[in-house]
Amino acid sequence: MKKAWGGRFSKTPEQWIEEFGASISFDQELVMEDIEGSIAHVKMLGKTNIISPEESEKIVAGLLNLKEKAQAGELEYSVSEEDIHLNLEKMLTDDIGPVGGKLHTGRSRNDQVATDMHLYLKKQVQIIKGHIKELQAALVGQAQENVDTVLPGYTHLQRAQPISFAHHLLAYFWMLQRDYERFDESTKRIDVSPLGASALAGTTFPIDRHYTAEQLGFAAVYENSMDAVSDRDFIVEFLSNSALTITHLSRLAEEIILWSSREFSFIELDDTYATGSSIMPQKKNPDMAELIRGKTGRVVGNLVGMLTTLKGLPLTYNKDMQEDKEGMFDTVHTLTGSLKIFAGMIATMTVKKEVMEEAVHQDFSNATELADYLATKGIPFREAHEIVGKLVLTCINKNCYLLDLSIHELKEACPNIEEDVYEVLSPRQAVKRRNSYGGTGFEQVKFQLEKAKQLL
Ligand code: ARG
Repeated sequence: MKKAWGGRFSKTPEQWIEEFGASISFDQELVMEDIEGSIAHVKMLGKTNIISPEESEKIVAGLLNLKEKAQAGELEYSVSEEDIHLNLEKMLTDDIGPVGGKLHTGRSRNDQVATDMHLYLKKQVQIIKGHIKELQAALVGQAQENVDTVLPGYTHLQRAQPISFAHHLLAYFWMLQRDYERFDESTKRIDVSPLGASALAGTTFPIDRHYTAEQLGFAAVYENSMDAVSDRDFIVEFLSNSALTITHLSRLAEEIILWSSREFSFIELDDTYATGSSIMPQKKNPDMAELIRGKTGRVVGNLVGMLTTLKGLPLTYNKDMQEDKEGMFDTVHTLTGSLKIFAGMIATMTVKKEVMEEAVHQDFSNATELADYLATKGIPFREAHEIVGKLVLTCINKNCYLLDLSIHELKEACPNIEEDVYEVLSPRQAVKRRNSYGGTGFEQVKFQLEKAKQLL
């Protein structure tokens, strides 16, 4: 098969080598962006009289026809045309004749592919932002139902202090808010047009880069043609933002998995998000949460892969850069799917409030309350800490909890303790009294919830 670049060659590559070098199997995902970019370019060629307005119109019509076919899934790609750019150009000339060959005037696949990727990511980031908001809304929905659901908060995965479940869920809301903002802020760097940089050095044709940028809805154009075709920072940044977002999902996934274990029993997932075992009839496995935790590996891998590909690449375009696509597509699909699943999983999970409440009565997560109580009675905090530590040890030896100690036993440890200590030791009180700004106190959580809702 004759190549678009075949003039200088006396033989064509063997088929398996051709296949190895081709990107059409995956870059066909850019078909719409490629057509869109070509339409803008060819309109500009007509407007600037680089080609005649009639020729321009003819090519635009041909491209619109290809767009329709693409939408209907009717395009047939061929490996011998290497990539999406050459495939479409071939289809165009087959359809409208040699005038189709004028499309590539003043353009190179180098600025073309970069343009496609910018257009593609701009669109995808917008979609991902929407999915982040949906997950945030699901978290807010559950938080709203669970402001006064009390459970142990953990450090070192050891029970630490009682908290409101809403507070725990909202911690993820704020994490995701930062992710959202990172994606949002990155748009500024995606929203730049490389089109017209041509191969690397610009072109002798009197093109109008601002016009094509405007046609494509870009906010700016690259100032340097060499930077325009070499830059993949916007992809690295996208992969990095995605890696961090899915890392956050992975942390929540881990909690969901723990909480739905028999040992915790804090939540039950809706059947849709779980699967059974082929051998153990009793099983209900939190598969989706596990899978998302697992998929974090490939998303982080895609980031590391891209950085490694770019390291040591001289300017400008190098074929290495064809490796920028699969990881990016994979991250887009993986993250989008994970966010969608997570939103549903959170919205539909059953929170076992009684189990949480029971847990918080069977631990020492109110020990800080007692130490704080002694401190307010004038005992230096370090001393109070020591006294309470000893009381905890007494309880462990007696197989009971702080609330089970008699006032006599408590006074023996420290005479400053009064009857009012029992009120202070109640886990619900412990939560309620943590009303410092951003704390887990019910009033603070309600305040926080209002702020979160305003961001939805
Ligand atoms: N398929 C190529 C890629 O994805 C398109 C750009 C090719 N440019 C070139 N000069 N070979 O990177």
